[in-house]
Amino acid sequence: MKVLFVVSVLLCVVSSLAKSVKDGSSSGVVFCYYGSWANERPGVGRFGVSDLPLDLCTHIVYSFLGLNATGDLTYPTEQTLEGKSNAVADLIALKQSNSNLKILSAIGGWDEGSANFSTVVNNDTLRATFVSNLYNYIDTNGFDGLDLDWEYPAQRGGIESDKEMFVTLVKELKSAFEPKGYILTSAVAVTQTHIDLSYDVPALTQYLDYLNLMLYDFHGTWDTETGVNAPLYPQLTDDASLNLNGNHSVHVWLENGANASKLLMGLGGYGKSFTLTSLNNTSTGAPFTAAGAAGPYTEEEGILAYYEICLDQKNNSSEWSITEVTGNYVYANKDLLWVGYDNPSTIYVKAQYAKTMGLRGIMYWAVDLDDFQGLCGDKFPLITQGIAGYNSV
Ligand SMILES: *[C@@H]1O[C@H](CO)[C@@H](O)[C@H](O)[C@H]1NC(C)=O
Ligand SMILES: *[C@@H]1O[C@H](CO)[C@@H](O)[C@H](O)[C@H]1NC(C)=O
Ligand SMILES: *[C@@H]1O[C@H](CO)[C@@H](O)[C@H](O)[C@H]1NC(C)=O
Ligand SMILES: *[C@@H]1O[C@H](CO)[C@@H](O)[C@H](O)[C@H]1NC(C)=O
Ligand SMILES: *[C@@H]1O[C@H](CO)[C@@H](O)[C@H](O)[C@H]1NC(C)=O
Ligand SMILES: *[C@@H]1O[C@H](CO)[C@@H](O)[C@H](O)[C@H]1NC(C)=O
Ligand SMILES: *[C@@H]1O[C@H](CO)[C@@H](O)[C@H](O)[C@H]1NC(C)=O
Ligand SMILES: *[C@@H]1O[C@H](CO)[C@@H](O)[C@H](O)[C@H]1NC(C)=O
Ligand SMILES: *[C@@H]1O[C@H](CO)[C@@H](O)[C@H](O)[C@H]1NC(C)=O
Repeated sequence: MKVLFVVSVLLCVVSSLAKSVKDGSSSGVVFCYYGSWANERPGVGRFGVSDLPLDLCTHIVYSFLGLNATGDLTYPTEQTLEGKSNAVADLIALKQSNSNLKILSAIGGWDEGSANFSTVVNNDTLRATFVSNLYNYIDTNGFDGLDLDWEYPAQRGGIESDKEMFVTLVKELKSAFEPKGYILTSAVAVTQTHIDLSYDVPALTQYLDYLNLMLYDFHGTWDTETGVNAPLYPQLTDDASLNLNGNHSVHVWLENGANASKLLMGLGGYGKSFTLTSLNNTSTGAPFTAAGAAGPYTEEEGILAYYEICLDQKNNSSEWSITEVTGNYVYANKDLLWVGYDNPSTIYVKAQYAKTMGLRGIMYWAVDLDDFQGLCGDKFPLITQGIAGYNSV
């Protein structure tokens, strides 16, 4: 296996900054999203409630509820129409032996889109129904709170007033939740363009307990060239003015009025894959002809779980060429299959960066994409190294 290391000069800046703001040992929040559909993956990819790493996550976020155009909830496939299931009961039962563990339910996600959220929040009657349905769902099932994953207000079928009405929704949910102390959080997009369209940052900061920065999906097959999922700093081939990187986005959120003590640094447990045009160009910024072939377990073109990447690299070692840009990202190719991702080392540095910037903790999309079986070595290497990186500062 050919492994190249490209040391980025920028990293030295961060580690010296890290030393200057050393503030002791406070452990951060560790949000672990769990996609309920991971329970349907084949073979070693199947991830059930019993696979959750309760010793690593402070918060588990069970994803996703949906909604229809009259503010009624729709449930993950494992659940019946009443919103009850063994999976949810098993999940909540985990709290009995782990009294500090918080379990949230998330609503929305990319596939849910924006249109029904928009319809509901802009109508006072429907919004009141929606708030009451969400409260009842959290309360009846025994969750500790709710995570709003509306992707995104005033985009993808939404209307301009969504930005303001999203704040109204958050405010109303907050006051419904307050008597029982339920947690209210939101996963948010991270570029200035998204903020301008979708978010009143100071207002959301006031009412939400945490804002989960989705610092990934910076590149994908919608681009014209290969690019990695979650660069912390610009890719070596980037035009710097693109600003498609985690560091820039964290600064943007802070400059728009977010309080770092409520921000969580989103980390991706997956890579973005492409089919290269030729082996003449295997770097970032290379031409490609199509999304990368689907992985054997996640079964979706253009993405690979970290465990699918490390397992293939382990079993087909001589066929892979791997380039790690230290503290930033990794890309690799096996013949024409190209993937840009994070490994335990880049995750460590990103979490260290989160602490250095004063962020409250880290968030993973998703716990089921890490090497949870230990197929390549220790179990949960990404989450483990993220925690280690955060606590190292
Ligand atoms: C939106 O609401 C409509 C009508 O209530 C429903 O049929 C549809 O499935 C919902 N869409 C999504 C993506 O949930
Ligand atoms: C939304 O779901 C509820 C409950 O299933 C149903 O009664 C209602 O008709 C649905 N609304 C729409 C617009 O489909
Ligand atoms: C709001 O929703 C209710 C219930 O579906 C409907 O009767 C009412 O016309 C809607 N209001 C507006 C302004 O669309
Ligand atoms: C991080 O982003 C900020 C804001 O864009 C920029 O000023 C700073 O130079 C970046 N840091 C590094 C190490 O690139
Ligand atoms: C940010 O949050 C911290 C902790 O809740 C608080 O002490 C601080 O005053 C807040 N900063 C601002 C500018 O609101
Ligand atoms: C790759 O490089 C070789 C040698 O320079 C050239 O002959 C060939 O046309 C190139 N292939 C593609 C697809 O660019
Ligand atoms: C790779 O492809 C990109 C985009 O077409 C091009 O800008 C770059 O010069 C190529 N690099 C090499 C080494 O051929
Ligand atoms: C090794 O590579 C072959 C050929 O691409 C592939 O079919 C196989 O699944 C790979 N092994 C693993 C463990 O991914
Ligand atoms: C990986 O290779 C080992 C040793 O050759 C083999 O036992 C195992 O089944 C392979 N795993 C996969 C997923 O291909």
